[in-house]
Amino acid sequence: MSASPILATRNLGLDIGGATIVADVGLEVREGELLAVIGPNGAGKTTLFNLVSGLHRPTSGSVELDGVDVTDQPPFRRARAGLGRTFQVSNVFPVLTVHENVRLAAEAAIGGTMRIWRRATAVSEAVERATWAIGRVGLAGRDAWPAGLLSHGDKRKLELAMLLAGRPRVLLLDEPMAGVSMEDVPELVELIRSVHVEEGKTVLMVEHHMEVVTGLAQRIAVMHHGRLLAVDTPDAIMANETVRQAYLGEEL
Ligand SMILES: Nc1ncnc2c1ncn2[C@@H]1O[C@H](COP(=O)(O)OP(=O)(O)O)[C@@H](O)[C@H]1O
Ligand SMILES: [Mg+2]
Repeated sequence: MSASPILATRNLGLDIGGATIVADVGLEVREGELLAVIGPNGAGKTTLFNLVSGLHRPTSGSVELDGVDVTDQPPFRRARAGLGRTFQVSNVFPVLTVHENVRLAAEAAIGGTMRIWRRATAVSEAVERATWAIGRVGLAGRDAWPAGLLSHGDKRKLELAMLLAGRPRVLLLDEPMAGVSMEDVPELVELIRSVHVEEGKTVLMVEHHMEVVTGLAQRIAVMHHGRLLAVDTPDAIMANETVRQAYLGEEL
């Protein structure tokens, strides 16, 4: 684990139309760790991810990737620099096959800067990456299926494969278990754990299921009304009185 964070936000804030959505968020993600972001609905978790990935421009503060200030860089540049994300709402093409979806993601990651004589190489590289990623998430048997026919759990695996095909160093996962039936959750948790541990990926993940978060994360960041309330180990977070107060009336 390197001393400087692989991803950091400094005093990050976003105001929209006079409303403060995110305020003064300073979060440091260490290389190789899995850090979970929790917080009540509307706390600003997805917005924080949008700021980190470059979908939103902050009204204050900065985002650093591997010590480089990327605040002015568009999403595709941050992706090239190793930042990969999935969305809370699926961005899978339902009529395309599993393989086609992942290959397109790989092609997008490999880039449009390809000269014409390099296209053949780029295409075979994309096919190779897609085959690897599909196998990695356990969807090899459904390679030729239209993505729209997959179960919710398998769709989430497909999204992870699309993400992995871009070979990110840092994965931003926004509610990777959303819409997945309870019996499929353990398998997805195991998949995320294995990608984190075996591929050595840094993971920043929004997740509601506390039993998932405490089992997976080395640290938990709690957001409330756009602010970071606490960042600590799962045990310390569960015992944190301020966090308990913020969740008053809600299940922690
Ligand atoms: N583009 C936007 N314009 C105005 N308000 C927004 C916009 N995006 C999000 N919000 C508001 O910001 C708050 C945080 O939203 P969000 O980041 O989606 O929360 P979370 O992911 O924690 O549930 C919510 O109150 C939401 O209504
Ligand atoms: Mg959200």
